[in-house]
Amino acid sequence: MRVAGIRDQYLEAMGIPVWVSRGQEQAELPGSASPDVDWDQLQAAVRDCTLCGLHRRRTQTVFGVGSHDADLLIIGEAPGAEEDRRGEPFVGRAGQLLNAMLGAIQLTRDEVYIANILKCQPPNNRDPKPEEAATCTPYLEGQMKLLRPRVILALGRIAAQLLLQSDSPIGRLRGKEFSFGEEGTPLVASYHPAYLLRSPSAKTKAWEDLLLVRQILRIQS
Ligand code: URA
Repeated sequence: MRVAGIRDQYLEAMGIPVWVSRGQEQAELPGSASPDVDWDQLQAAVRDCTLCGLHRRRTQTVFGVGSHDADLLIIGEAPGAEEDRRGEPFVGRAGQLLNAMLGAIQLTRDEVYIANILKCQPPNNRDPKPEEAATCTPYLEGQMKLLRPRVILALGRIAAQLLLQSDSPIGRLRGKEFSFGEEGTPLVASYHPAYLLRSPSAKTKAWEDLLLVRQILRIQS
């Protein structure tokens, strides 16, 4: 089946599965990672995306922010209200805590790359539905292919379980190093900053996770 549209061409060129509208079937389009697909093209594909119902109520998509040369990729769950308004991930209260956490390991937002599983805000900040995550994940995969991070930090249960394909609680997934994807990128899971705002006593464990990230980054450099 032919899938039209420039967004689909970009996704196809990157070897990313595309949802086709007719019959709501999922089609794996041919093609492997293409050096022709760049950040601007992928961002435009996300900006124009209407593949799930979340596009109807968004103010704007929230693609990601940071350095395209970053060693560390931080992955959260989904934009909240403030992120939806400003078009940038982690700019609300949880984002301020994330900035402070990064500062504690001598990193700034500009030096890392920050993205979410979902690029659109779910209503009332509910958890992403599995079909929304499945539809949106190819964009994150595109970001990973372009960035080729040396370490991934998954923040919160949703991101950690999805990336690790696990249903273990975040308390079991955090605190250790996993190997992610074909390239075996080191992945550390930790508590979501929004959870840390509600449960400050978990900050000690989050700090341990950050030290692990820093240690892996140093070993790799
Ligand atoms: N929580 C997330 O997981 N991501 C954001 O961008 C903001 C809050």
